[in-house]
Amino acid sequence: EIHPVILCGGSGTRLWPRSRKTMPKPFLPLVGDETLFEATLARAADPALFAPPTVVTGSAHLPHVTAQLPGEASIIVEPEAKNTAAAIALAAARLPGDALMLVCPSDHYIADVPAFHAAVQAGASLARADYMVAFGITPTAPETGFGYIRQGEALEGGFTVAEFVEKPDLERAMQFLASGDYSWNGGIFTFRAGAFMDELAQHRPNLANSVLRSVSEGKAEGAQFHPDPAAFAGIESESVDYAVMEETARAAMVPVAMGWSDIGNWHALRDARKGDGNGNRAHGPVELVDCRNVLAESNGARISAIGLSDIAIVVDGDEVLVTTMEGAQKVGKLTGAANQ
Ligand code: GDD
Ligand code: MG
Repeated sequence: EIHPVILCGGSGTRLWPRSRKTMPKPFLPLVGDETLFEATLARAADPALFAPPTVVTGSAHLPHVTAQLPGEASIIVEPEAKNTAAAIALAAARLPGDALMLVCPSDHYIADVPAFHAAVQAGASLARADYMVAFGITPTAPETGFGYIRQGEALEGGFTVAEFVEKPDLERAMQFLASGDYSWNGGIFTFRAGAFMDELAQHRPNLANSVLRSVSEGKAEGAQFHPDPAAFAGIESESVDYAVMEETARAAMVPVAMGWSDIGNWHALRDARKGDGNGNRAHGPVELVDCRNVLAESNGARISAIGLSDIAIVVDGDEVLVTTMEGAQKVGKLTGAANQ
């Protein structure tokens, strides 16, 4: 049995104006009818494989989480956002040491769910042998927002990790891509709860101790658990990639081709959606003439466009975004996105 741990923290400013502080990325139906959060839960819902999930979130996202949870779940409400090392450790500290955890970001898209399940099962057998298991995605661009994994020796169902580099600069990312020896880290992990806490205690003892203290002094309220805010306040804000995956000698990687996307911006979202005969993705009142590979969506005013290609046009309430695909990465820097 595998315990899904769903992380709900980010806000997705590069998907502004659809994603807003009040309605962030995981809780929107960005690809298909389900929200990304609902789809994440559904992927880890088969009772033959999975225990009921644990959702780790802050109080700002809690109303969306409870509204979109279809069934039984434990919810850990973080006193404040301290990044993923602490969020994962809260869940690990609440689970029995022998529980296998499957850590899932709540804001990704996976097209091929059977491939995901097969990789999870391969990962689980490595996690039983106390590996910290990441999932490797074949890279297609020198993205600097991802972790990179160099594959080591073959293991049953995967490989050891020869090197884990979180968010390299562009020059290194280009070298990694050109070498053909690296995978992207998909941001999904599996490990035994006790093994993770041991690694964290070894590499970030203060972080591990503070989390343990905030859990032992925390309060359960029905399905919700509230870690002690005072013990949590001193925790370093660090991602699991730096705190554990770059440090551990027991990292492993399961390569998987599953149509993965972190839907990092409108370009990635366009690519995750199915296009019509001209490659356009239109939602809502939209008329496109002589357009190719255009994403156009509106929940209000009609969009009419002629002769465009590789453009995103998004109308949400009184905000209109128009960007090229190359520009999509900069949307978070717009005044509207920053001041939403
Ligand atoms: N509960 C909680 N609390 N969740 C959090 C917090 C937090 O403080 N911080 C982040 N999260 C959630 C986010 O909502 C997201 O679902 C997941 O944890 C990962 O955090 P991101 O902030 O999106 O990380 P990233 O995208 O920069 O990098 C990670 O993912 C990449 C793949 O998408 C790393 O694991 C990279 O190595 C990886 O390539
Ligand atoms: Mg992310």
